[in-house]
Amino acid sequence: KGRVFSGARPTGRQHLGNYLGAMLNYVALQEDYDCIYCIVDVHALTTLETTLDLRQNTYEMALDWLAVGIRPEESIVFVQSHVPQVMELHTYLSMVTPLGKLTDLPTFKEKAREQPHNVNYGLVGYPVLMTADIVLYKADLVPVGVDQAPHLEFARETVRSFNHRYNTQVLIEPQMKVTQVPKVIGIDGQQKMSKSLNNHIELAATPEETRQRVMQMVTDPQRIRRSDPGNPDVCNVFSMHKIFSSPEQVEMVNTECRRAGIGCVDCKKLFAENLNHHLQPFRQRREEISQNPDFVWDVLKDGAKRASQIAEATMVEVRQAIGLP
Ligand code: TYM
Repeated sequence: KGRVFSGARPTGRQHLGNYLGAMLNYVALQEDYDCIYCIVDVHALTTLETTLDLRQNTYEMALDWLAVGIRPEESIVFVQSHVPQVMELHTYLSMVTPLGKLTDLPTFKEKAREQPHNVNYGLVGYPVLMTADIVLYKADLVPVGVDQAPHLEFARETVRSFNHRYNTQVLIEPQMKVTQVPKVIGIDGQQKMSKSLNNHIELAATPEETRQRVMQMVTDPQRIRRSDPGNPDVCNVFSMHKIFSSPEQVEMVNTECRRAGIGCVDCKKLFAENLNHHLQPFRQRREEISQNPDFVWDVLKDGAKRASQIAEATMVEVRQAIGLP
């Protein structure tokens, strides 16, 4: 069996972007791979102004993962900082990383623009730590949204540099795996869905909250009046219908929107209804698991124990490959 690794920052309740872009693959890949899923709290520190919510956000995210169908009896679910070998590997990898390559990455430039007052050393090294996550567990495959593509390419290059520099084969070049919807647009209809932009829809929201959020979604900007014909091809609500509605409904929306037969309000109501229906089993399962909060922490503790064994085995090889005395 090959090995899968993926991580996500502890941002609390997960949204449709995380779900469609990554979590669906987390679940599906369990059939054919040994999977490791990591809550990357150290990565979160690169951007957080306060850590007050870190514990709660870690818990909420783990709960979402378990509710969506990650099976902790098979897969490893753990918190990054619980297995500190990753920080050691990060340091070694940093020695084969040209600084300019990090500062040239589009993901870095974006963050540096967002937090000009806090362009810290850890933020620059973010992709190095992410590479360490992946290669510490010798992952073959990394399920992520397409926004992570530059990081994955960086990871592959870093593995090649390391193996070349120390004339070894210990580190494995990972492949990236995206879902059918690798980039989900937020309710603003423009930018990628993300919690920091507050344009997201949470999986664990109540049906009523979900409806309200959906009602705020931006549709075809050219369609101003109800009587104007719309263009589904440029409408984010329509792209959601294609995922969550039946083929007949998609066909109906497609035709009726173009001839102003259905208005945006009714179109959104239909989507909200289908989304709530789709998420119902997830929400119920989440409710059940949360009856016992200790369960989630026990899963994470057990996960860290299992992850540590793999991590230490890799580090023994890495230290030797480098030639540390
Ligand atoms: P993060 O925490 O931003 O997001 C977690 C996962 O959700 C995906 N995602 C999306 N996919 C499609 N559309 C969206 N709007 C959207 N928003 C989020 C992300 O692509 C990601 O797969 N750097 C990573 C965390 C990380 C990691 C790793 C991932 C650290 N180490 C090792 C894989 C392997 C991040 O910040 O993801």
